[in-house]
Amino acid sequence: MDVGTTIGALALPCPVLAASGTAGHGAELAAYGDLAALGAVVVKSLAAEPWTGNPAPRVHGTAGGAAMLNSVGLQGPGVEAWVADELPALQATGARVVVSLWGRSVGDFRKAAELVAAAPDGIAAVEVNLSCPNLDGGRHLFAQSPSDSADVIGEVVDALGGGRPVWAKLTAVTASIVEVAGAAAEAGAAAVTCINTLLGLGIDVERRSYVLGSGPAGGGLSGPAIHPVAVRAVHDVHRALPDLAVIGVGGVVSGVDAVELLLAGASAVQVGTATFADPRACWRVADELRSWCMEHGVASVRELIGAVHGR
Ligand code: FUM
Repeated sequence: MDVGTTIGALALPCPVLAASGTAGHGAELAAYGDLAALGAVVVKSLAAEPWTGNPAPRVHGTAGGAAMLNSVGLQGPGVEAWVADELPALQATGARVVVSLWGRSVGDFRKAAELVAAAPDGIAAVEVNLSCPNLDGGRHLFAQSPSDSADVIGEVVDALGGGRPVWAKLTAVTASIVEVAGAAAEAGAAAVTCINTLLGLGIDVERRSYVLGSGPAGGGLSGPAIHPVAVRAVHDVHRALPDLAVIGVGGVVSGVDAVELLLAGASAVQVGTATFADPRACWRVADELRSWCMEHGVASVRELIGAVHGR
């Protein structure tokens, strides 16, 4: 059975990718499986400069284990140090590497993209994180606005000089994710990744204080609890913009969850929070997807993409 897929012009041998923020910056997950067997590894978002992130505690299990709040705050070594210290080991595994970038301003994103443009070959795509809820209390949610998103994507595409495809990572915390996706595509994004975590807050009732070190700024909610939100976002974007590649992410813990996102219109899916509970989750989801296809007489996962729309 053929599990190959394409995201825009980028061909991948498997539609299951490791989501940004859940596979480290390098080859950490290689201890648990063959990274080259996954569609790609999306590394944790990097800025042009090193950044220490938010105070601990940074993660908190919630909804009876069906969700997680995080406020890591985009800790990272910066693009240059990543290229020198982490990228070679990750590339040596044979993984297709997708670098995720963040910034507080359009200029920050441009600077990070320029550093990626100067990096050696072997970066398959650039995912632009327009949607982290944990930066200065959510004040940099570019993906809440079509024009802000377009400004960032246009600048990153320009800085990369057409060398690498650009994916825009979006949030469902916006008036219209379809409009934001359209604006990102118009500005040059080859794909949109739907969705990042949702804005959440946890309170420790015994201590009468916040559960995360970010305090009143809260964190991002992820895991199975947000899966239907991701399905809705992928579905609505694919329905409105059928020619735009969509990568589905949000609460994927099983092959059936992946099938659901593919039917909604995703060309590929990312596994994120599930990896914290089971570091082999990406490979297990890929195996379950393959088995599901064989059991249902599906010869190629491409048959599933957007199939609920009847096209
Ligand atoms: O806080 C964080 O590092 C999370 C990033 C994200 O959700 O994009």
